[in-house]
This record gives sequence, C-alpha cells and structure tokens, in this order.
Amino acid sequence: MKNSLMSTYAPLSPILSKGDGVYLYDTKGNKYLDFTSGIGVNSLGYSHPKWTKAVNDQINTLQHCSNIFLNPVTVELSNKLTSLAKMDKVFFANSGAEANEGALKLARKYSFDKYGKNRNKILSLKQSFHGRTLATLTANGQEKFHNYFFPFPEGFDYVEANNINDFNSKLTDDVCAIIMEAVQGEGGIHPLHKDFVTEVVSICNSKDIVVIFDEVQSGIARTGKLFGFNNFDVKADIITLAKGLGAGLPIGAVLCNEKLSNVFNPGDHGTTFGGNPAVCAGALVVLDEICNDKTYNSVTKNSKLLKDKLTAANLNKIVEVRGIGLMIGIELKGNSSEIQQKAIEKGLLVLTAGTNVIRLLPPIIISEEEILKGANILVELLK
Ligand SMILES: Cc1ncc(COP(=O)(O)O)c(C=O)c1O
Repeated sequence: MKNSLMSTYAPLSPILSKGDGVYLYDTKGNKYLDFTSGIGVNSLGYSHPKWTKAVNDQINTLQHCSNIFLNPVTVELSNKLTSLAKMDKVFFANSGAEANEGALKLARKYSFDKYGKNRNKILSLKQSFHGRTLATLTANGQEKFHNYFFPFPEGFDYVEANNINDFNSKLTDDVCAIIMEAVQGEGGIHPLHKDFVTEVVSICNSKDIVVIFDEVQSGIARTGKLFGFNNFDVKADIITLAKGLGAGLPIGAVLCNEKLSNVFNPGDHGTTFGGNPAVCAGALVVLDEICNDKTYNSVTKNSKLLKDKLTAANLNKIVEVRGIGLMIGIELKGNSSEIQQKAIEKGLLVLTAGTNVIRLLPPIIISEEEILKGANILVELLK
C-alpha cells in the first residue's frame, strides 16, 4: 500500500483493519489469532465492551483539558494506581520512553537535591531496552542503539545482567540510580535472576541509590503479578509503566514512593497530553478488569500450558523456551523473521526479539482454548 510514512519500520504483509477479542482481521478479510497485543499494549484484546464504552463516554464528556486543571478521571486513576501499586505519587506521560525519561530526571533531581550535582550516573543492564528518546537510547544496554545520534547524554554505565561482581565494580560514588526490566523484553525475553535482583536492591537501599523498575512491558499482569519485579519480592523506588496500562491508547506512568514524592516541583517536569482523561478512563477499566488474583492465576496457567506444549513437542528447531507469565520467548536455531512470516500464513501473529527469538505477548484476557490453538500452530511450524 503506497504510504507517506518515514521508513522507521519495515511493516509485515497484512494490512490490519479490524480487531475483535483476541483476533485481528486484514483488509482482505483474513483472520489472525493475535499473540502480539500490538507489542504488549492490547491487554484487554480488541473491542473490549467496558473499555470501549468508558473511552467513548469520556470522549463525549471531556476529551482533554491539560494539566493546568484537574479532572476527576485522571485524579481517580492516580489514586487507584498508587494504591494498587503501594506507591505514593504518580506522573502520567504518553509512552514508555517518556515515562523512563521522567524517571531518570526524577532520580537525578533526588540525588541533586540531597548530594549535589556530581552524583548523577545511571546504571542500566546490558541487553536492556528503555526507549528511543536520547536519554533512554543511551540507557539501552545494547551497542546497536548507540550510533548516529551523537552526542549522547553523559552519565550512564552498563552492568552485565545477573553478574553481581560486575554491578559492584560499576558502583562508583557518582551513581544515583539503577534502571532494570524484571524480564528483558526487546533484548530477547530474559528474566533476571532473583538472587541478583535481591542483592542489587539491598545494596542500592543501603547507599540511597534509586531503584527504578521499567515495567513498561512486564507490568500490569503480564507476568502473572501486578509487576514483573513482584516475582522477586523486592520493592522499587520508582516504577515506570505504559503499554498494557493503556490497552490501546497512549499512556505512560512514573510511580514513586514517599522518598521521592516531593522531588518534582511545579515547572520541573510536564507534558501537554499526559493524563488525558479519555486515556485514563480506559486505564481505569484495565485496572478493574485484569489487576486481580483471578487474572494473575489465569496468566500463570496459560503460560504453563503454552510452554509445556512447546517443550513437550521436543522440537529440534527450538534452543530454549523461557519467560514469565504471558511474556514468552522461543529461542530458535534459525531465523525468527522466517518463522514469523510462516506463522502469518497460518493465521497467527507473533513478534520477534532480535534475529533468533520469537516473542509472544498475547492479550492478558486470552482463553486456554485460544492459547492452545496458537501453541498448536507454532508446534506445526517448528517441526
Ligand atoms: C521495557 C521497555 N521500556 C520502554 C519501552 C519504550 O516504550 P515506548 O515505545 O512506548 O516509548 C519499551 C518498548 O518496547 C519497553 O519494552
């Protein structure tokens, strides 16, 4: 289809025009089972009646008023989200990168206020992904992102994931924060090890280094818990969210604990669209519908079903099946894009992470039957 979009993506062949439940339809009327959720966004699938109604009703009432005024819906989301997350305050942004950018600013300002301007270094993990703004690009622990756009901001260093000695060696006096994904998504679906995370958090707490969990992909029930880091029994100082909280509309969120609640003063940070009432009305439905034990249990059960099905088939094209909850990676001996293309032909949409990992992020509300249907297609393809 002729289009005037910049070539930042190489779009896959189906041109999608409609969604319903966990299925997508292309302009030719072909039906696809969706194991992508629009890259982890459509947690409630498509045309979810409560979400659609809430968003439409809000658009018909007040679609936007900016943050120079309060509105009841954004306030309600701020109260519900902080209470659920057991955090003190929230700032609403429009995307994952923007949430992380806000988190980095918040951590640096906390350190500046308390220790002066030379304690400003942010540690991130190798293989991580945090976004595409200049600061979050710099935070990404992958060399491929550190090109072309020079100069990158200063004050970043990279720790090998799950290597506590490397962490200790990077822990210079100028470090103010660490940012981590509980399960590295874009980097290939690599869950962090519990003992590493526990030790890092404990050392950071003892040195007043801010612990940021980037839950943009792994948050909001994706791993069978509210947040991915809940799998490690640790606490965060800052949590960033986006994707699944929006369920189809753009949102970002920076949650902080009491220690950081008074760091930002009027003028220190802001956004025109962030906390838009229509987006927040949808996010309130997301919290109501999927942030509960019943959903967490179903995510965990469906995760096991899918992983068991893939491993029981003993497929020699598979190196490893890994991940937590409905954030699953299938490392292949061959090329992941080829399998992705073949899956499309069989009516299943999947993601890739790098050249050899198939990444699965089905909608959170997916049923057992639909999980098995997708698993069977994958087993056939990988035989
Ligand atoms: C862990 C993580 N952080 C940040 C981002 C960036 O989010 P966005 O694309 O909404 O800016 C992503 C996107 O894939 C992500 O997976």
